Order: sequence, then structure tokens, then C-alpha cells
Amino acid sequence: MQVFHTASGLREVLYKERRKGLRIGFVATMGNLHDGHLALIEQAGQSNDIVVCSIFVNALQFGLNEDWDKYPRTYESDCAKLRQSGCHYLFHPDDSEMYPNGLDTQSRVICPTMTDVLCGASRPGHFEGVTTVVSKLFNIVQPDEAIFGTKDYQQLAVIRRMAEDLCMPVKISSAPIHREPDGLAMSSRNSYISEEERPKVRVLKETLEWIAQQIVAGDSDFPQLQAEAVKRIECAGFKTDYMTISNSKTLQPAAVDDRQITILGAIYTEAARLIDNVSISLE
Ligand code: PAJ
Repeated sequence: MQVFHTASGLREVLYKERRKGLRIGFVATMGNLHDGHLALIEQAGQSNDIVVCSIFVNALQFGLNEDWDKYPRTYESDCAKLRQSGCHYLFHPDDSEMYPNGLDTQSRVICPTMTDVLCGASRPGHFEGVTTVVSKLFNIVQPDEAIFGTKDYQQLAVIRRMAEDLCMPVKISSAPIHREPDGLAMSSRNSYISEEERPKVRVLKETLEWIAQQIVAGDSDFPQLQAEAVKRIECAGFKTDYMTISNSKTLQPAAVDDRQITILGAIYTEAARLIDNVSISLE
């Protein structure tokens, strides 16, 4: 695996690969890699000749009171994992490489409406930071395919929409949620969960699955299901950010006749904010 810290260095080598007719697959990350990330790399390798991964903790997508400064940075062990994973090129830029003109005057990519709800409602500006950095990374890497995890369901939907709206010549693919043995979705932020809370956080996935089962069984009283879900989260000792039954494509609240439904949840533990989702097809 070759590591590049500058966009020009990476561009040069990828230009040569493209000229050979090789397909480029891309996985964007903020590092602190776990098996969920590595599954994306593996998937990228199955349908492409060359796999590029980026590690960049993107300040533009963190709110002022969020965890940018304490976000786990584990570059050395990430590199070791990537070397084992079939990644050919790692792009690891610093802030000045990605934002040479600073953050304040950076041109931005905005995907409206879809980013007003769910995580977008509680993290204003977050998705603007994501769509901006992902656009920049796409411009640098120019991948044929980019793989994103379903764990960040809204992020995946927003990136799909951005690529479609802006005619970006890249196929956006999804990878399933990678979980711990008890069902907790793997996340770099799981390290913020205390030992005491750890056995209880499975309630998030269990509650989303319970809602899914009720809907499949014919319950269409969505507000009542959401209210019951919030109670279950509270009983386990956590605060709910949102528990929403949404249209899988638009992410707006689901109508009773919607067939593709995604149930999304976000909860607060003492020091972490955890998200998860479950999709169902009623076809
Ligand atoms: P990060 O949280 O590092 O995630 C990088 C990619 O890994 C995303 O596509 C995310 O959905 C996927 N991922 C994370 N945990 C996963 C899990 N348990 N199962 C499957 N996939 C998982 O998401 C970001 O970084 C950033 O917002 C980024 C897209 C890199 C832009 O800065």
C-alpha cells in the first residue's frame, strides 16, 4: 500500500492506473478503523481493480460543541489494518491540504430538505460538511465506485442524492451494517460508551427491530409506535434524540401506504450519541 498526503501525488498515480483501463473503488473514512470499515474496503476490491481509502477527520462536519478534538486518531494501527485489507492507496491529507483557503471561505455543497431531518436536525451544518468533503474527495480520486455504510443511513441517502443531482460520474454503493456480537453497530464513537452503559446500549437495535416487527405484523399507528419506542429507550436509562419511521428514499416521515420503510434511531448515552437503523420492504 502506498500512502499519499497530497492530492497531486495521489492524482498522478491514479491517472496512470486509469490509463491502464483499471477501475477505481473508493472508501472515505475518518480513521480509527474497525471491521465495518474493512468490510467496505473488501467490497470495493470485489468490484474494482484498484482500492483507494482516505483517512481525514473532517472539521467541517463537526459542530462547535462536538468531538472533533477528541475523535480517536489511530493512524499507525489504521495503516497496519489497511495493509492487510487489500487497499492499494491511502490518502491521508492534513487540514491545509484539504482546506488550503481555510474553512470559513470554503465553497460548499448543500443538499437541501433531506438534511433538515433526523441527524441533520440535531447536528446543524453536519451534512453540509460531509457533502463538501466527499465532493472534494471524489474530485481528487475520481472513483468509478464509492462505497458507504448503511450504518449512516442518512449520510448514504444524502450522498446518493448529491451524486445524482450534480451528475457526478460515480456509482454510489452501500454496504450492510457491521455489528458487535450483541448487535451494537460498530462505530469509532463506541469507545465513548462507559462500562456500565455498554450492556444496555443494545436496546437501540432491539427497539428498532421491535418497531419493524410491529409494522410487518400490520400496525400502522406510527406515532404510537414511536412513542412506545422512546419509552423503551428511557427505561434502559438513555435519552432519545429521535425515533423515526421514515420513507426509505426521501427520509420524510413514512405514509401508511409507503412500501419501503426505514426506522431510524439516535440516542444519547452519558458521553456518546449512537445511531442505528433497520429497513423493511412491505412489497
Ligand atoms: P466514518 O465514520 O469513518 O465512516 C466511514 C465509512 O464507514 C462510512 O461510509 C460509514 O457509513 C461506514 N461505517 C462506519 N461504521 C460502519 C458499520 N458498523 N458498518 C458498516 N459501515 C460502517 O462516515 C464518515 O466517516 C464520514 O462522514 C465521511 C463519509 C468519511 C466524510 O468525512
